[in-house]
Amino acid sequence: MKIYCGKDYEHAGRITANILSAQIIMKPDCVLGLATGSTPISAYENLIRHYESGDLDFSLVHSINLDEYRGLDPENDQSYRYFMNTHLFDHINIDKKNTFVPDGMEKDAEKACQDYDEIIRSHGGIDLQLLGLGHNGHIGFNEPSDSFAKGTHLVTLTESTVTANARFFASASDVPKEAYTMGIRSIMQAKIILVMACGESKKEIIKKAFYGPITPQVPASVLQLHPNVILVGDEAALG
Ligand code: F6R
Repeated sequence: MKIYCGKDYEHAGRITANILSAQIIMKPDCVLGLATGSTPISAYENLIRHYESGDLDFSLVHSINLDEYRGLDPENDQSYRYFMNTHLFDHINIDKKNTFVPDGMEKDAEKACQDYDEIIRSHGGIDLQLLGLGHNGHIGFNEPSDSFAKGTHLVTLTESTVTANARFFASASDVPKEAYTMGIRSIMQAKIILVMACGESKKEIIKKAFYGPITPQVPASVLQLHPNVILVGDEAALG
């Protein structure tokens, strides 16, 4: 595992954006696995800057997001599709037809999951997967459990995740309790995994995930088995 420590969140975002940029420059038609949440925002801001300065071209890039709340439509400002549009896609020259987020409005969970796995498969997998890290070790919405779920699946969010995500909603009761998420297999099959985790509150889980036992109770711990993981953090998270 390679570790890069930025001095603060902004710096970590620049490092993450530089790694994503290198991937796009090396392979202009790459498939990026993307994440939402508060962590990648500074990386996305820097990617937009690189695009605006003429250094990056997204016209051939495809993106496949990790997850989406079940029951939120793309226009809902709490949906992950809306997040991706407003934080990145609306500001760069990516073709939105080439951007994928699970269909939160598909009521048939089996269909939603199979369709998404087919999208991943038909793209030949993911070149670089960007991940944030949940306080309980979740990646995507793969929550602590007794086994590592493989393909895209429907999850019931844990109380810890609902509480953490309540900051984006009017109240915790407004946070959807279910989501569709890419499974551990698709994440692990990505050629490169880029984890970004910042702030004091991520310190403990970074230790557990990367230096503790590999267990589905800490889903991110499975990343220890991946041959090409890059961890970007700040001093608060990496000490
Ligand atoms: C988001 C996602 C989640 C977040 C994680 C960390 O698409 O899949 O796993 O990466 O919950 O969230 P933040 O960055 O808000 O701390």
